[in-house]
Amino acid sequence: MQDKSFLMIPGPTPVPESVLLELAKHPIGHRTEEFSKILLGCTEDLKYVGKTKESDVFIITGSGTSAMESAIASFISPSDKILSLVIGVFGARFAEIANIYGASVEKMEVAPGNIIDLHILEKRLKEDKNKEIKVVTVTHSETSTGAANDLENIAKLVKHHGALLIVDAVTSLCCMKKHLTVLKVLLLHLI
Ligand SMILES: Cc1ncc(COP(=O)(O)O)c(C=O)c1O
Repeated sequence: MQDKSFLMIPGPTPVPESVLLELAKHPIGHRTEEFSKILLGCTEDLKYVGKTKESDVFIITGSGTSAMESAIASFISPSDKILSLVIGVFGARFAEIANIYGASVEKMEVAPGNIIDLHILEKRLKEDKNKEIKVVTVTHSETSTGAANDLENIAKLVKHHGALLIVDAVTSLCCMKKHLTVLKVLLLHLI
C-alpha cells in the first residue's frame, strides 16, 4: 500500500490489496454452503471486535445511513418519545430519520464543535420520572465537526434511566481508544 496515494477523508477508506484481489474473483452463490461459512466467519470475527460472545451481531449490506435507519425502524414505534443528542450533521440525521418514522423527537443540541454536557443530560433524564423517553440516539464521533462525545458516561446515564441507547459509531468503532469498553457497556445494556 506504500506506493498508493491516500484519501485522507473519513471515507472511502483505502482498501488493502488482498481484499481488492478477492473482489476481482467471480461471485459465489449467496445460498451456497461456501457463502454461509464466510458469513458466519465474518459475524464471529465481528463479535471479537465488539468484545462480545453472547450478543447478536448483524452485518448490514448498506451505508452507514442505512444502518442508522435499520436501528430506528427496528426499535422505534410511531409516537415513541426519543431524545436525540445532536452535536452536528450526523446527530441531526438520526433525529430526522426518527421523525420520518413517526417518533416524538426531542433534540438536545449544542453549538458546532461542542459535545453533550453530561450534567444537562443527567438533569433531563432525571426529569423524565414517568420514563417516557424510550430511546436515546447519539453520535460517538461527529465527523462533521471532529468532536467526540463522552460515550462511556453517556451510556452509564442512559442505562441508569432505563432507555435504550442507539449509537452511531461509524467513525469511532475500531479507531477510538475507548470504543471497546463502550461497546461492552452498550451490549450489556441491550441484553
Ligand atoms: C458519524 C457518521 N455517521 C453516519 C455517516 C453516514 O454514513 P454513509 O455516508 O455511509 O451513509 C457518516 C458518514 O461519513 C458518519 O461520518
